[in-house]
Amino acid sequence: MTDSAHQQIQAKVDAYIDNQANLDLLRFITCGSVDDGKSTLIGRMLYEAQLLFEDQVTSLKADSKKMGSQGGDIDFALLVDGLAAEREQGITIDVAYRFFNTDQRKFIVADTPGHEQYTRNMVTGASTADVAIILVDASQGILTQTRRHSFIASLLGIEQVVLAVNKMDLVNYDASVFDAIVDDYQGLAAHFNFKGVSTIPLSALEGDNVIARSHHMKWYKGPTLLGFLETVEVRKSLNEHPFRFPVQWVNRPHRGFRGFSGTVVAGTIAPGDKVRALPSGEIATVQGLVLSDKDLPLALTDQALTLTLDREIDISRGDVLTAADSPCEISDQFEAQLVWMDQEQGYIGRSYWLQLGTARANATISEIKFKYNINTFEHLSSRELHLNDIAEITLTLDKAVPFEPYASCRQLGAFVLIDRYSNATVGAGMIKFSLRRATNVHKQALQVDRAAREKLNGHQGQVIWLTGLSGSGKSTVANAAEQMLHDKGFKTYILDGDNIRHGLSKDLGFTVADRVENIRRIAEVARILVDAGIIVFTAFISPFRSERDMARALFDAGDFAEVFVNIPLAVAEARDPKGLYKKARRGELPNFTGIDSDYEAPDNPDAVLNTAERSIDECAEDLVRLVMADE
Ligand code: ADX
Repeated sequence: MTDSAHQQIQAKVDAYIDNQANLDLLRFITCGSVDDGKSTLIGRMLYEAQLLFEDQVTSLKADSKKMGSQGGDIDFALLVDGLAAEREQGITIDVAYRFFNTDQRKFIVADTPGHEQYTRNMVTGASTADVAIILVDASQGILTQTRRHSFIASLLGIEQVVLAVNKMDLVNYDASVFDAIVDDYQGLAAHFNFKGVSTIPLSALEGDNVIARSHHMKWYKGPTLLGFLETVEVRKSLNEHPFRFPVQWVNRPHRGFRGFSGTVVAGTIAPGDKVRALPSGEIATVQGLVLSDKDLPLALTDQALTLTLDREIDISRGDVLTAADSPCEISDQFEAQLVWMDQEQGYIGRSYWLQLGTARANATISEIKFKYNINTFEHLSSRELHLNDIAEITLTLDKAVPFEPYASCRQLGAFVLIDRYSNATVGAGMIKFSLRRATNVHKQALQVDRAAREKLNGHQGQVIWLTGLSGSGKSTVANAAEQMLHDKGFKTYILDGDNIRHGLSKDLGFTVADRVENIRRIAEVARILVDAGIIVFTAFISPFRSERDMARALFDAGDFAEVFVNIPLAVAEARDPKGLYKKARRGELPNFTGIDSDYEAPDNPDAVLNTAERSIDECAEDLVRLVMADE
C-alpha cells in the first residue's frame, strides 16, 4: 500500500467520521464456531441497519475496489486496527472489518472466520474491540471453542461480552434450554475479568431479538442484540493518557519538510507541545499537525496525521514520540501472554521477528512459564507451544523498544511474532510488564578487550560452524583442521556435539525443543570464545535453519562461517560409526536425524565439504583456508 493510497482512504474515512460526528463509535467482534450462524447474524444486522447508510457504503466500496480490495469489501483494516505495517510486509490477516450505523451509534465490526484454527483472526480483530459477541448454538451449548473465545476476549482486555444464544428456533424457543446455557456460561465467566456479561436468546435466521423483538420468546425481557450494542458503555478513550505516537514512516515529500506520519494511539497533541523521541530520548517542540494539507489545531487519540517538529532530532520508523515529561518505558525483556497461532510449533530459544506498534526487533521466547489448560484453567509446564495454546512467557529482544503494558495502552503493549521464513504471523501477545533484569543488569565494561586479546594471540577470533548429518564427518574434519592450525601456532577450540552433551547440555535430549536449546547454548559459548580471540569449530548436527541463523546473528559478518558437511544419508548410514542408524531403524532411538527427525540443509553455506568424495585432509585444508582468508 503506497502512502498516497493510504492517505486517500484515510481522507474518505475522515469524511465519514465527520458526517457522523455527533455519534460515538463502538467496535465489536463476533466469535463463534463454523456453524453457529455468525455470517447470518452479521448479514442480518448489516442488512437491517445499513439501509440508512447506503450511499456512503457504495462510494467506499468503489474506492476500496480501486485500492485493490477483493470482492468489493471495504478495506478499513488499515485504519482501524493499526496493522498497516504488517500489511505492507505482506502478512495477511483474515479479518474483514465492516461498518454501519444507526441513529444512536456508529459501529465497526471485525468479522473473523470461526474455525478453531482461526483463533489468530479473532486475536487480531479483537485487539481494538469494546465488546465481544460470543455466539453459541442453542442446540449445542457451550463448547471448547466458546471457552477459548472467552479466554482470549478476557486476555485482550475486552470488558463487555454478550453471550448470543443463537438458533433458538431449533429448540422451540424453550426458556429452560436458554437458562441452562446461561448458567453454564456464568460459571465459566466467573474465571474472567469481564465487567459485564449479558445473555440474549436469538434466532439470526428468523430475525428474533437481533433488531426486532421476538414474538416467540415473550419470556425474555432484556434488550435485543442491536439494542444492547446501541446502549452498552463504550470503553473510555485514551485522550487523558500521556501522548503516544508510534512513527509509521518518516515523510519527506519536498526539501526542507520532514514530517512523521502515524496515528496518535494515546493522549492529545497540539502545536507548541514538547515531545520526547524514544528510544533516543531527544526532545523537540511540535510545530505543526498536518492532515491531507490541512493544519490541525489539536489532535486526539486515534487521529492519523503527519507531525512536524521545530528541529531535527534522531527519529526513524518504529520510534515513539511521547509527552516530553511523561515518556513510556523502554525494555528488551518482557513478561507477556501469548496466543500461539501457527501449525508449526513454537520453541524456547528460537528467534522470531517481533512487531510492536511500528517497531521491529528480533525476539526469542526465553521461558514458557506455563500454558493454560483452557477447560480446567490449570497451569501446565511445557517447552513448546502448539496451535491455539495460550501461555505466559518471557520474551527477550535484541534491542530495547518503547512499550507500555497492554493493560494501560493496547497499541503499545500488543505485539505479534512473525516467522522469518514464511512471514506468517505465528503468535500474538500482550505485554504484562518489563522484567527488571533488563534495566538492572548492566554490561560490565572490562579493560582487557577482544582487540587486546587478539593482539596477544596474533590472530582474530572466529567461528567455523559445521552442520551435517550424524556420521557426516564434522568432528573428524574439525579435528584435522584444528591440528593443522595448532601446528601453525593458532589458538583454537572445538565444541563437539558428543562432548558437550556429556557436560553443558547433559540435561538435553533430541526433541526439537531440546535441540533448539542445545544450539542456543553452543552459540553463546562460541561467542564467549570468539571474544577471547579463539578460532572455534563447532561440530553439531544443528539441523534447523532458524537456530543456525540465530547463531550467525550473534556475530559480526566476518566472524562466522557456516560449513555444510554434505554427504548422502545412505553414506552416513553405511558408515554408522556408533551403530546409531541401525538402532534408529530398529525403532530403538526416536527422533534420529535423517530417519524420523528433519535435517534442513543450509541455503547459502559459506562452504560445502563432501567427505564421501574427498579425503579428510583435503576437506580440512579447505577449512584452514577459510580461517586464513579472514586473518
Ligand atoms: S543437535 O541436533 O543438537 O545439533 P548434536 O550434534 O548435539 O545434535 O548431537 C548429535 C550426536 O548425538 C550424534 O552424532 C549422535 O552421536 C548422538 N545422538 C544420540 N541420539 C540422537 C538422535 N536421536 N538424533 C541425532 N543424534 C543423536
